[in-house]
Amino acid sequence: MSATGPRKLPIVVLISGSGSNLQAIIDAAQAGLPVEIRAVISNKAEAYGLERARQAGITTRVLNHKDYPDRESYDAALAAVIDDCGAELVVLAGFMRILSDGFVRRYEGRMLNIHPSLLPRHRGLDTHARALAAGDAVHGATVHFVSPELDAGPIILQARVPVQPNDSPESLAARVLREEHRIYPEAIRWFAEGRLKLDQGRALLDGKPISP
Ligand code: GRF
Repeated sequence: MSATGPRKLPIVVLISGSGSNLQAIIDAAQAGLPVEIRAVISNKAEAYGLERARQAGITTRVLNHKDYPDRESYDAALAAVIDDCGAELVVLAGFMRILSDGFVRRYEGRMLNIHPSLLPRHRGLDTHARALAAGDAVHGATVHFVSPELDAGPIILQARVPVQPNDSPESLAARVLREEHRIYPEAIRWFAEGRLKLDQGRALLDGKPISP
């Protein structure tokens, strides 16, 4: 530690929407999480998360996927922005894009995602409605390393929430989101402190495999 505190890990946060997880990360950084958010990048100009970033004085970039002929050229432009920022960790926080294999490999071991279910249950979209339809008694959220297969990367941290008999997808989503806002900054802290690694397809914390 120096006189100015521990080194801050340069990160970028990718969003498409509300950005409540982004807000949790901004709040945590202001409270001492050792990261510097170099940029918030959105594929949608209207994403409310961009406004959150602006209010926190963070650089914003919009890369509209409709401006690119195919996924590879979009992902190449995205990677150029990320690398220009000098980001050492890419944080997906509600970024609603399928990423090409090449992009995922480029950031292997340094790209995290949060997914609103207890993976491997309910990969993909509409997780809250699907948990209710399946009669799940417990639901939750998962932070994981990103791997080429969608929502299938090594699990880092999960939070479980009870499903209530009168839950709607919206009430369940709100309960899960509260937990997301707790576990995402925590997982980012582990990474920033050098405690969290991806090693041969396994997530390790302090050198030991994480078993959810
Ligand atoms: C969250 O539910 C997250 O798990 C999922 O997308 C949603 C993003 O919400 N990947 P927000 O934009 O952070 O509010």
